[in-house]
Amino acid sequence: MDKMIIQGGRRLSGEVQISGAKNAALPIMCSALLTEGWNTYHNVPDLVDIRTIKKLLSSFGAAIEGEGTIRVNAANLTHCEASYDLVKTMRASILVLGPLVARMGVARVSLPGGCAIGARPVNLHIKALQDMGADVELKAGYVEARAKRLRGADIFFDLSTVTGTENIMMAACLAEGTTVLRNAAREPEVVNLAEVLKSMGAMISGAGTDVITINGVDRLHPVEASIIPDRIEAGTFMIAVGMTGGDITLKGCNSLHLEVLINKLRDAGMEITPVAGGLRVARSGSIRSVDVKTLPYPGFATDLQAQMMAMMAVGDGLSVITETVFENRFMHVSELLRMGADIVVQGHSAIVKGIPTLRGAPVMATDLRASASLILAGLAAEGKTELSRIYHIDRGYQSIEKKLSALGADIKRVQA
Ligand code: EPZ
Repeated sequence: MDKMIIQGGRRLSGEVQISGAKNAALPIMCSALLTEGWNTYHNVPDLVDIRTIKKLLSSFGAAIEGEGTIRVNAANLTHCEASYDLVKTMRASILVLGPLVARMGVARVSLPGGCAIGARPVNLHIKALQDMGADVELKAGYVEARAKRLRGADIFFDLSTVTGTENIMMAACLAEGTTVLRNAAREPEVVNLAEVLKSMGAMISGAGTDVITINGVDRLHPVEASIIPDRIEAGTFMIAVGMTGGDITLKGCNSLHLEVLINKLRDAGMEITPVAGGLRVARSGSIRSVDVKTLPYPGFATDLQAQMMAMMAVGDGLSVITETVFENRFMHVSELLRMGADIVVQGHSAIVKGIPTLRGAPVMATDLRASASLILAGLAAEGKTELSRIYHIDRGYQSIEKKLSALGADIKRVQA
């Protein structure tokens, strides 16, 4: 199994191109299930999770071509079952449920099972489909859903759920009548999906707000569309400069999607300047400790919490980091402690006492964003860090070590 070897202490400089967003590409590729014919998607990142969704779609009988620009044709679906073997490797596979029931009238999708960062049930997805008239059963670890034709409904999500909103928004496009989603997720990835669905002929209003209205239509048509930049990848590189010091330019990111992070990093002493086609991010002085509370968008992204904690571990004072979205997203703490960090977890909060320098050590990735935080910690640490279980990082970052090396970092992937 591969490992990352990082020699810390180098400042970052230069330019980095931000890839397309994993969490937009996944639902958008699933939306191809809603129609017949070739859909073309540009700016799709080259990630393990994208390869998994391609495998899943082709297991239904969809035709798939290309990388970077991907074409999907779901005209001749022969199966509507998402197997446990595929779903267990990627929870986002649940995003095929809504489109399959809406278009094919039936779907059998394995329940995703447990996850390192929390229980992550899909009860809100299921309840919403039942509200739309689907007959849903849980059998042998699978969700079995049937509906001759879904009907519009007024749906209130108890919690703001990103994939729940996306799943039901897709299903509602082909339902009979009007669906209203209340307390809907407002993430940019939800808006990207809504824009693609609208270009397929769907009637959607309110995406980006917490009330989305969908008027069902009889059929949709294929489209050509682009995936938005990955704000979490962009945020990860911005925090990397925060930790190492230096001056980089992010090409192709959308600063509107990063407002809360930009403000937080400026409070922490960083210089962030919009430039043509991106953002210039620099740090020269010390890191000021700031408090962070994760929230659904437009609040501070939970997918940047671990990276921000690594930065606060070398801040100039105390920082309280509160995680409100997932109940178990502090797995990176024990690994940061191995690098000399001073962090105490109390319930949903971590109290981080900044220290001058972290020390390199062998550490282990536990989930996608935790692994990103440990790479950042290694970049800022004294000495060598060896990160194992890096299959986590490949799920959500395209060639991260190559991009960081191009910015001057001493990081390499080795076969262990
Ligand atoms: C999406 O996950 C992202 N994944 C996650 O990114 C991200 O962390 C999360 O949204 C929050 O921003 C994709 O878009 C593929 P939720 P999702 O439903 O949709 C609870 C990454 O690192 N909940 O918004 O699964 C749930 O347990 C990944 O790229 C229910 O209780 O998250 C959580 O506490 C990790 N019942 C909260 O809601 C449900 O039916 C928000 O989860 C659904 C959710």
